[in-house]
Parts: sequence; structure tokens; C-alpha cells
Amino acid sequence: MVKTNTNNDILEKDEQYVWHSMKPYNPQATYVVKDSFGATVVDTDGNQYIDAMAGLWCVNAGYGREEIAKAAYDQMLRNPYSPLSQGHVPAVELAEKINDMLGGGYVVFFSNSGSEANETAFKIARQYHQQKGENSRYKIISRYRAYHGSSLGSLSATGQAERKYKYEPLAPGFIHVAPPDMYRQPEDASLLPEQLASVQAVDQTMTWEYSGTIAAMILEPIITGGGVIMPPDNYLKGIQEVCKKHGALMIVDEVICGFGRTGKPFGFMNYDVQPDIITMAKGLTSAYLPLSATAVKREIFEAFTGTDAYDYFRHVNTFGGSPVSCAVALKNIEIFERESLFERSAIKGDEVLATLREKLDDHPNVGNIRGKGLLIGIELVADKATKQPLAAEKVNAIIADCKKNGVLIGKNGATVAGFNNVLALSPPLNISQEDIDKVVTTLVNSIKNIDSV
Ligand SMILES: Cc1ncc(COP(=O)(O)O)c(C=O)c1O
Repeated sequence: MVKTNTNNDILEKDEQYVWHSMKPYNPQATYVVKDSFGATVVDTDGNQYIDAMAGLWCVNAGYGREEIAKAAYDQMLRNPYSPLSQGHVPAVELAEKINDMLGGGYVVFFSNSGSEANETAFKIARQYHQQKGENSRYKIISRYRAYHGSSLGSLSATGQAERKYKYEPLAPGFIHVAPPDMYRQPEDASLLPEQLASVQAVDQTMTWEYSGTIAAMILEPIITGGGVIMPPDNYLKGIQEVCKKHGALMIVDEVICGFGRTGKPFGFMNYDVQPDIITMAKGLTSAYLPLSATAVKREIFEAFTGTDAYDYFRHVNTFGGSPVSCAVALKNIEIFERESLFERSAIKGDEVLATLREKLDDHPNVGNIRGKGLLIGIELVADKATKQPLAAEKVNAIIADCKKNGVLIGKNGATVAGFNNVLALSPPLNISQEDIDKVVTTLVNSIKNIDSV
């Protein structure tokens, strides 16, 4: 059981000076992290927590990697900064590596965050069509329930009303469609891609909006922060075909799904598609430093090679692709490969899913347990038959009980009113078996004690 708040000085200063993200106003600080190692974070009172969320779904290689710190240190001494209006060695090496990992044929634009990577994708998509003389294509299609970032454009693509409320009106030209949801609206997974209702809905939206106005569709392979919502296996293939039919680009947001989270290098690789644009962040550096990337098919890049005054991509990002962040990403990817962490994610994810299902499937408040790799969601319901979501207080009580017992888990927070009822696990991919066992036991106990927590 953890101790609470004995280190008052730092907690008081935290309360006084730090505005925390996504936290309702509450003058009482909870904990302040001081150290971390493996899958564990340590607060200023010395309490240890297994971080089953890898921070914000991002510390894929785990905490305390000395060789990543050394790569940053070495690069800082060698060359801490060069703008990417010219080249620098770590960016060249990293872009080559990303292209290899994606299967070849891509050119990479670097930024700092997932939001910026998506903004960049939207600007590229819009200008790409203009470069090709299709001046009316500007609309971006995205799905309800998905998150694509906090900046005004990426928030406009986000399909979570609770993230947008009080910040609207947002950017025009963003159209939302319903996502597939194999728990709440199961579809027959044996259907051909074009027969899926969730694919037909996108086709219909693009037709009704008029194909000639659609620039792109953005989607995560699996909706992550929106509630670990799984598509039927054929869905992405169907979306790829629909995008082609309407002349729209397919942008896949790999900000969470990328870098082994779903047991493959990139989430789309589970679904036999090859996106036009791929955005990535978080696991790219395992969050040791900020870095994101927007990878575009070479033919898109080549639409920008004209010599007219405005033919080039007029977009700059001072810190994007900093040599130090790129050096960190290269070392991080080297670790993934050396330790086979993507494969480990697939194996451990299957094991955790099987254990959770064995222990919790019969529980009256557990509606659905799902995931791929070490990306796992547990949808909690008040009633298994009606699938009515479990009350937010109970969901929060389970999370608090896990924390009290030294395990940090997540949920889909502030997404769609009434549907923030999915617990999430997204631990470092190198989490030890002992830590996995503790996460699973703690979570199962907290859920089983649901009325007493
Ligand atoms: C799927 C997805 N896309 C984009 C973003 C935005 O990334 P960032 O917070 O780095 O701007 C996030 C952040 O959680 C995300 O989960």
C-alpha cells in the first residue's frame, strides 16, 4: 500500500506552479515523480508504481535506458542543433530507417509531437491535391471517438466532443463518421471489405460530401485513447479501397499504435494495407525526447517538386527533427530490434488478454476485453445485456484502487459523454513477467471488489 504526500515541499510547489494536463481543478497534488526504471516510476515519497500505461502510452522501451541517454549526450556534444531546411546526419539516418520499417517508398517530414505530425499531414494532403490541379479537395474525414491531437487542426479531426467543448468553433472542413465497434455494433468479420457497414458508411459520406471535395481520411488502425476500439480485420482494407475510389489520401495515425504497441512495427501492418501518409510520435523515441514524423509516399512528395513560386511545402518546424531527438530515436529503434520488443508485445499481449478473459469474462461488470499486442482495453458495463456503461465514479474507483496498490492503469478519459468506461493497459514493451503478474492480479482484484473499492 502506498504512503501519501509526506514530502510536502515539492508537492506544495507543484500545486502552486504547475498547471497539469487533463486534470479537473483540484488544489491537492497527488504525486510527483522523481525517478523511474524498467516499468516502474517512483514518487517523491519513495512510493513505487508499476506504470502499466508507459506514461501516456509512449515509453515503449521502458525507463532508465542508459544507452539512450548516452546517445543524446554524444549527439549534443557533436551537434545539438541544425535546422532541417538543410540536412544533418541523424535525420538522414532516421528517415532511412523509418522508410525501411514502413516497407519502402516513403519520404519523412519531422516535427515534435503527434498533433504536429497530423497537422503536417493535413497541410500536405490539401496542398498535394492543389499541386495536381484538384483545387476543391480540402475536407478531411475522421472518426467519432478517435483522438488526433490538441492543436486546433488536429483537434478538429478529433471525434471526441468532450475534448472540443468550449474550444469551438474549430477549423472548417473536418467531417466525422462512426467508427466500427466490434463490441457495441459487431460486424460479420468474414464479409468482404466493401460489404462492411462501417466501410459503406465512409463510402456514402464521401459520396454525399462529393468526392471532388475530399482531401483525405485520417484514422488510427485501432482507436486507442478513445477506448481501445477494435475494427473488423477487413475494415482498413475497405477504407483503403474507398479512399482510392474517391481519390482521397489515406492517412494512418500511428502515434500510439506504432513502434510495437500492437505487436507489429506499425499498427496498419496487422491489416494488410499500405497507407499514403503515416504519422508517428510517442514510441518513436519512447518519449525520451520529443519527436514526431509524417511519412508520405514518394509520389506525394514528388507532387511538390514543381518550380512555380508556391509549389513547395511552405512549412517549418524549428525543433522538429532535432539531431539529438533523431539520435535518441535511432538508439531506441536499435533497442526494439535487439530485444525483439515488437514480437514480445505480441506474445505478452496475447497472454495478458487470455488471463484477463479467464479471470474476468464472467464478471457482471466486464462487458468486453480486447486488444492487440500490449494495447488492451476492458470495457466496463453496468449491465452486460444492455451494455450500459458503468458509472464514471466506479471506473475511477477501480483506477484509484489500483494506484493505491502500486499499479498505474489508464482509461479513455473525457472523450464522449457517458462512454468513458474503458480501462486501458499500455505498459512498456519490456515490462518484466513479474510486473505483468502484479498488474494483472491488482487489476483483477480491484475489479472484483468493484462494490467495495
Ligand atoms: C492517436 C493520437 N494521435 C495524436 C496524438 C497527439 O500527440 P501529442 O500529444 O504528441 O501532440 C495523440 C496523443 O495522445 C494520440 O493518441
